[in-house]
Amino acid sequence: MDEKLKNKISTPALIIDKKKLEYNIKLMANFAKENSINLRPHVKTHKCPTIGQMQLKAGANGITVAKVSEAEVFAKNGFDNILIANEIVSEEKIVRMLGLAKSKTIIVAVDSEKNIKDLDRLSQKYNTELNILIDIDVGLGRTGVKPGKPALQLGRLVDKSPFLNLKGLMAYEGHLSFIKEEENRKIETNKCMKLVIDTKELFENEGLDISIISAGGTPTYKYTGKYPGITEIQPGTYVFMDHHYAPIVPEFEIALTILTTVISMPSKRMATLDMGSKSVYLDGYPKFIESNKIKAQLITEEHCQISYKEIELKIGNKIQAIPPHICPTVNLYDFFTIIENDEIIDRWEISARGKIL
Ligand SMILES: Cc1ncc(COP(=O)(O)O)c(C=O)c1O
Repeated sequence: MDEKLKNKISTPALIIDKKKLEYNIKLMANFAKENSINLRPHVKTHKCPTIGQMQLKAGANGITVAKVSEAEVFAKNGFDNILIANEIVSEEKIVRMLGLAKSKTIIVAVDSEKNIKDLDRLSQKYNTELNILIDIDVGLGRTGVKPGKPALQLGRLVDKSPFLNLKGLMAYEGHLSFIKEEENRKIETNKCMKLVIDTKELFENEGLDISIISAGGTPTYKYTGKYPGITEIQPGTYVFMDHHYAPIVPEFEIALTILTTVISMPSKRMATLDMGSKSVYLDGYPKFIESNKIKAQLITEEHCQISYKEIELKIGNKIQAIPPHICPTVNLYDFFTIIENDEIIDRWEISARGKIL
C-alpha cells in the first residue's frame, strides 16, 4: 500500500483490496461453475450486503448465515434463498425466522426431534412453511445427528410434519480445516462426504425425496465440491483469507488487512501499535505484511507491542497486519475501507456486524 494512501486513513481500519476480493470471488465462482455445483457462500465472514451482492453476481445461488439476525439483515437488503446453517431452538428466534419465511425462501438445519416438533408447531401457528436440512455430524462433534439411521429417523419425522418441507442434508467438515497435507485433507474429506451420500441413499430408498446436499468450507471446497452427489458448497473465508488459512489454500489472495499506526516507541527495536484485542480477534496473534521483519509480542485491549528488525519504524508509521482469524475480526468493525489502484474508492458498511442473536 502506498504511504500517501495509508496516511489518509484513520486507524485501526479494515482495508479491502478490491481487485484481490474480486479475484477470490471469481476463483470460487468459477470452480463452482466448472464442477456444476451450486455455491452458497457463508456471509458470516464479511457480514456485508455489498459483498454478498458481488458473490451473487459472480454466480452464487443463495447465501448461508449462522444467525437469524444475520438472515434478517440480508433479507432486508434484498437477499433470498437463505440457509441458516445452525439449529434455531428458542421460540422467540423461531418466530422471527418464520416472519422471514413469509416472504423469503428460508432453509434451516435441524438435529433433534424436539426442535423438529417445535418448528412444525410454530409454523402451523403462524401459518408458514419452513424448509429443512438434516444436519449430520461427520466428525466435528459440534452440532448434527449421526449419519445413517439416526439421520433417517429425523428425516422421517420432518417428512411427516405438515408444515415442514424436507429439502435435504447438511454436513460441515470443519474439523478437517487444518490438515496441512493436501492428499490427507482430500482423503478425510472424501470419507466424510461418503457418510453423507450413504445417508442420502437411505433416504431415497425410503422414497424420501431430497434435492439439497450442502457441505464444505474454504479448506475443503475442492474435494467436497467434486464429490458426486454433493449439490452445493458453503465456504466463507475465501473472500478475504487470513493467516491461518493462507498456507492451506494459497490459491486465494489476502484481500483484507488491518491498517495500524505506530503510536509509541517504548524501547530499542520495539514499537507499540494502535491495534489491540478490540480491533483484532485473538485466535493467536496477527502477522504483518513484512512478516519476517515484524513480530507481535504482546497484545492488550488497545495496543499491540511489536519487535522489528531490518527495517526502520518511527511514530506515525502505518503498517498492515494480517489477522489470524478474519470472521470474528470483521465483526469488531463498522465498515470496510475499499482501495483500488492506490486510491480509496469506497466505504462499505458491515451491516450485520454484532448480529449474534
Ligand atoms: C456450517 C458452516 N459452513 C461453512 C462454514 C465456512 O467455513 P470457512 O470459513 O472455512 O469457509 C462454516 C464456518 O465456520 C460453518 O460453520
